[in-house]
Amino acid sequence: MAEKTARATLPLEQATAKAVQRCIQSECGATYGIRERIYVCPRCGGPLEIEIRPSAPVSAAAELKKSWAARAVSREPRDVSGVWRYRELLPFEDSVPIVTLFEGHTPLYDAPRSAEYCGLARFRLKHQGCNPTGSFKDTGMTAAVTQAVLLGAHTAVCASTGNTAASLAAYAARAGLQSAILLPRGQISAAKLAQSLDYGAAVCEIEGNFDDCMRLIQELGDDPAIYVANSINPFRIEGQKTVAIELMEQCQWQTPDHVVVPGGNMGNSTALGKGFQELMDLGLIDRLPKLQVVQAEDSAPLARLFAGLKPAEKSGDARHLPETMAPVENPKTLATAIKIGAPVSWQKSLRAVVRSGGNILSVTEQEIADAKAIIGRDGIGCEPASATTVAGMKKLVAAGIVGREESVVGILTGHVLKDPDYVSRYHHGSLSLDSGEPGGAPKPIASAFPNAPQRVAANKAAILDNLARRR
Ligand code: F0G
Repeated sequence: MAEKTARATLPLEQATAKAVQRCIQSECGATYGIRERIYVCPRCGGPLEIEIRPSAPVSAAAELKKSWAARAVSREPRDVSGVWRYRELLPFEDSVPIVTLFEGHTPLYDAPRSAEYCGLARFRLKHQGCNPTGSFKDTGMTAAVTQAVLLGAHTAVCASTGNTAASLAAYAARAGLQSAILLPRGQISAAKLAQSLDYGAAVCEIEGNFDDCMRLIQELGDDPAIYVANSINPFRIEGQKTVAIELMEQCQWQTPDHVVVPGGNMGNSTALGKGFQELMDLGLIDRLPKLQVVQAEDSAPLARLFAGLKPAEKSGDARHLPETMAPVENPKTLATAIKIGAPVSWQKSLRAVVRSGGNILSVTEQEIADAKAIIGRDGIGCEPASATTVAGMKKLVAAGIVGREESVVGILTGHVLKDPDYVSRYHHGSLSLDSGEPGGAPKPIASAFPNAPQRVAANKAAILDNLARRR
């Protein structure tokens, strides 16, 4: 995919002057038009990102806040979408037809039980699971599928642990494009697979793990009729970065001290980091929140790398960042969304984290499971991967890295109904992790906050008695 095999269907001159694609490698830095169908730098193979060159002068940036706020009450589809509402910072002209399911506008909740569990005075959770397909992927997919249509692609493809797949399938269906999805067979939740089937995707179950699927996607991306919708695609990141803008609006432009997110393929942390950085560059916020990224213990290549970084490598200077990351060969976790051993966006994510002064850490299966139950007790709920946020924050507070009075926002990435099997097994006390070794015994996960259903006789007295005992 590093070769310039396929060119944009639009000539370069028609690409907007509003943005370019730039290689993030400091010794390369090559730029390309935004209608070039590339996913990595054709010159050096490095990751690409979109560099926005706002048409309005920076002095007018404060006006943006007013326009964005005004659009919140508009009924225009472009304003109703919580992504396209921020179009001044997106690499598309206003005349471009957009593919939207009215994504974004997700709630920011106070989560007092989660706060208490972590040792924080206050903890707010932004629920990206409230997007149209139930995960944060939709905010990026609206941009990626809009770009796929512009480039004349026939088929949009992705590798997925389930959520990217469901999101791509839905947005491709809206656009009338074929979607093709590579899934690691038997390793994704039935609910997510059901979504992709319903949205009409061509689902290919691959013998292998997510990282194997991702390698195949990079080969498929060479085909000119195919458009890759994974977060290696910088347009996905552009849509997802708007979550940072929406969050800042909800925080009335008071930057939280910390924003904590799960880490899998590392697109989300990359996108949030980019969003906050652009708001800083425009003078809309005066400091960056510290980005805290949390991986599952046995799927944590970047947390491992981060733990071994030297002080110079954490200085925020991109030139000092490591060039390689050792993958985890056989990643394991019941939080299947983040069962990833070789995240494609690790460099961009690492750069965003060190620039912000944050951390990349890991949490155990037990910590994820109990944190998830606590988020449920706040009446919010989420899928297992999302609960790494609360589990990670508890660890950061215990370590004295985050103070009790600091302001913290967690990004919940997926809806509680994304993995009902996990939820049910936790509350029945039957959750366990396969050892991954042939003949190895499964590792049981204890349920600190179980809530199994109980059989009750079909009469009022028995029900009242049961309720009294469970109060
Ligand atoms: N949380 C959920 C619910 C996810 O589905 C994912 C990634 C992540 C967190 C991690 O985000 O990859 O941007 O670091 N899911 C991808 C998928 C890999 O295929 O659905 P990330």
